[in-house]
Amino acid sequence: MTKLLILIAAYLLGSIPSALIVGKVGFGIDIREHGSGNLGGTNTFRVLGVKAGLIVTISDILKGTLAASLPVLFHVDIHPLIAGALAVLGHTYPIFAGFRGGKAVATSGGVLLFYSPFLFFTLLVVFFLVLYLSKYVSLSSMLAGVYAIIYTIFFTNDIPLRIGVTLLALFVFYRHRANIKRIINKTEPKIKWL
Ligand code: G3P
Repeated sequence: MTKLLILIAAYLLGSIPSALIVGKVGFGIDIREHGSGNLGGTNTFRVLGVKAGLIVTISDILKGTLAASLPVLFHVDIHPLIAGALAVLGHTYPIFAGFRGGKAVATSGGVLLFYSPFLFFTLLVVFFLVLYLSKYVSLSSMLAGVYAIIYTIFFTNDIPLRIGVTLLALFVFYRHRANIKRIINKTEPKIKWL
């Protein structure tokens, strides 16, 4: 019973639509009707500026971190990556926002921040390096996913981490289908501030 409650709590935590809340409360707009239409940090930066973008990105990361820590906090025998994955599911298919959410990047990062901080911080390095070179946030997110898979194959024997990271990265690629098409067509927007 407690296990089920923790899993539901992790999903509900992930479902908190921070981009929608910041857009509606702070600016009176539904962010899904602007920019890429994505309910995430990047689109918030794009549409509402740096301050709002940072608030949303940090909140989305913390949702994953907190969800992954729930089994430890409540001494329940659930692997943190499973609780974290449910938060990622909530973030992408939020019950509080018509199941139209984000692209799984920040919340997945938050899960790794709890479970494998070294991987998280090196992921950030890869992300910003690709972003500096390409100016595409989506490409940076996906290549960070590729790096995470390679890292878990060559630098860890943690099988749950290997499986979890591979599934999360594949899910991130899946959620970026439209971005991949736009990158190929050269219509994907580039960031201007790096
Ligand atoms: O984290 C999402 C990012 O990789 C792409 O967002 O709004 O450019 O589709 P967006």
